[in-house]
Amino acid sequence: MARVYNFSPGPSALPLPVLEKVQKELVEYGTTGMSVMEMSHRSAMYLDIIHDTEARLRALMHIPENYAVLFLHGGATAQFASIPLNLMVKGAADYIDSGNFAHGAAGEAAKFGKVNIVASSRDDQYTYIPDWKGKLNADADYLHITTNNTIYGTHYIELPEGPAPLVADMSSNILGEVYDVNKFGVIYAGAQKNIGPAGLCVLIVRKDLLGNARPETPKIYNWATQADNESMLNTPNTFAIYVAGQCMAWLQEQGGVEAIAEVNKQKAALLYDFLDNSKLFKGTAQKEYRSVMNVTFVTGDKDKDAAFVKFAASKGLLNVKGHRVVGGMRASIYNAMPIEGVKALVAAMKEFEAQD
Ligand SMILES: Cc1ncc(COP(=O)(O)O)c(C=O)c1O
Repeated sequence: MARVYNFSPGPSALPLPVLEKVQKELVEYGTTGMSVMEMSHRSAMYLDIIHDTEARLRALMHIPENYAVLFLHGGATAQFASIPLNLMVKGAADYIDSGNFAHGAAGEAAKFGKVNIVASSRDDQYTYIPDWKGKLNADADYLHITTNNTIYGTHYIELPEGPAPLVADMSSNILGEVYDVNKFGVIYAGAQKNIGPAGLCVLIVRKDLLGNARPETPKIYNWATQADNESMLNTPNTFAIYVAGQCMAWLQEQGGVEAIAEVNKQKAALLYDFLDNSKLFKGTAQKEYRSVMNVTFVTGDKDKDAAFVKFAASKGLLNVKGHRVVGGMRASIYNAMPIEGVKALVAAMKEFEAQD
């Protein structure tokens, strides 16, 4: 078996021990005589799995009892529309435009009510988190942010605090950085980076925000209905929820979010320190806002960028090509990327630079 170091932004590398455990349990889970994929979602054996996954997430993020945890379909993108459907009661919301996904979320919300883009870094290619201070609207139904901008490699170093509930797309840094859930009204995240396989979205919502959905809300997107049905209004992505639970168990063995967040900082520092001293490569995000999860960089020459992506791949360092809208390179170094993978990437960058 030759596993590569996979720097993909999502779906992303999963911890090898998790894949091996899943492989072992694939045909028969425990003594049930069947695969998790073959279980009724309403069976006692499956309910144990989903309850265990929720308990692990609650433990890892210290989620208080006054928050509901939902396992939903449609990725983070389905929530771009679900958020206004569930929360736009007065009819206007604040959005901070810090990247393409933040922009997309605002675009969906604008179909349902008034969207105030209170701050944007779009005109500067999203290289930083724009300043929202003093710009938040007192009567907004909620304020939406994207805590980590996957494409541009930036993250918030301070959370906005305002009168409206804070709604956060945490797709690319949930479980990779420490957050106080109490500061948020809603946290949601597509699973395919730090949580588990694609096809699942985790949503954490303060219970007092439930029950105000607009009448036209399809019931599949109504969080209150989903909470009442324990995420089983229809058949959930049973297998992805099971694998997510295994990834969470693995994370608990690593010491939890607090411990892995420190490792993640070390991994990112290795790359950023190299970039800051390199003659060939340079980071594209403004230093203050540099992401711990997605490290974006360029050589300044498109052909050299392409040559480096090829060179890295020849060394088993895959998917370092930047997003199609920005080009260059991006190393996504989520929880499952070991520090050895980052060291191997830095070594390859050094070697490539020396040949330049
Ligand atoms: C920050 C962020 N938000 C939203 C999305 C879209 O997620 P999904 O494909 O699960 O809908 C992504 C995907 O990479 C993302 O990185």
